[in-house]
Amino acid sequence: MIYLNGKFLPIEEAVIPVLDRGFIFGDGVYEVIPVYSRHPFRLQEHLQRLQKSLTGIRLENPNSEDKWRELIRRVIDLNEPDDQSLYLQVTRGVAKRDHAFPGNTVPTVLITSNPLIPPGEKQLRSGVGAITATDNRWLRCDVKSTALLPNVLLRQLAVDADCVETLLLRDGLLTEGSASNVFVVRAGIVFAPAKSNLMLAGITYDVVLELAQANGIACELRSVTQAELNEADEIWITSSSKEILPVTTLNGNPVGNGKPGPVFQRMHDLYQSYKAQVMRAPR
Ligand code: PDD
Repeated sequence: MIYLNGKFLPIEEAVIPVLDRGFIFGDGVYEVIPVYSRHPFRLQEHLQRLQKSLTGIRLENPNSEDKWRELIRRVIDLNEPDDQSLYLQVTRGVAKRDHAFPGNTVPTVLITSNPLIPPGEKQLRSGVGAITATDNRWLRCDVKSTALLPNVLLRQLAVDADCVETLLLRDGLLTEGSASNVFVVRAGIVFAPAKSNLMLAGITYDVVLELAQANGIACELRSVTQAELNEADEIWITSSSKEILPVTTLNGNPVGNGKPGPVFQRMHDLYQSYKAQVMRAPR
């Protein structure tokens, strides 16, 4: 069951007009929110980021925060799995094709739910492969835009190389993955690029930084070069769907000793305890 423009209905019955600007121009923004035991994870932060993305594309938020919370609650309740991956999308609505903003158009609002599949045992035990590529996206990667063609093409490079993710370098410096943020460990210290317009401010990224801080794991936000990626003891990718995944091969070469490292293991355990705590909280 999904929510579309004021109605709850089975996804098979949901349709949008062909002139929706999301379809025509990718003129919209989105969020992916994991739900654990029917608890939306970091909902406040996701809704704040949605607001930032909407502001970034000059589209008024169609719903108050309370209204979003109510719609999200209902979609969760209408779907069977306890663990869900919620997808929210807002587009600039339906209008005759013209690049300029249309006047008085009602935004299209969509919320869907899929079963949330956490990373498998094998991926956690062996890690995953990644490649690097030049980050050729626009300069507003902090906006979670549905216009994802560059990310789609970059991610496919990883799939073509039998890998899980493409790590992106702009002017020789790491920005993020095609659909994830990236952390690097060297001599026990965790490094990650600081937030900027060149990357999405990941909700999982923030959780990792908070957990590092709270548990005495040294962490530095600074530029990371391709050479530092190549010499890393550990590399992790993070996202709402992947949680924290260890990257154990980069461009076909082992990362560190080619196995998920001790700092990853520690962070993974901390993340799982944090999730368990969230699930025990009242809804
Ligand atoms: N993507 N960077 C990019 C480009 C992303 O697409 C994502 C997430 C992240 C991680 O953000 P978060 O921790 O808030 O999920 C970073 C989602 C999961 C997607 O597009 O499916």
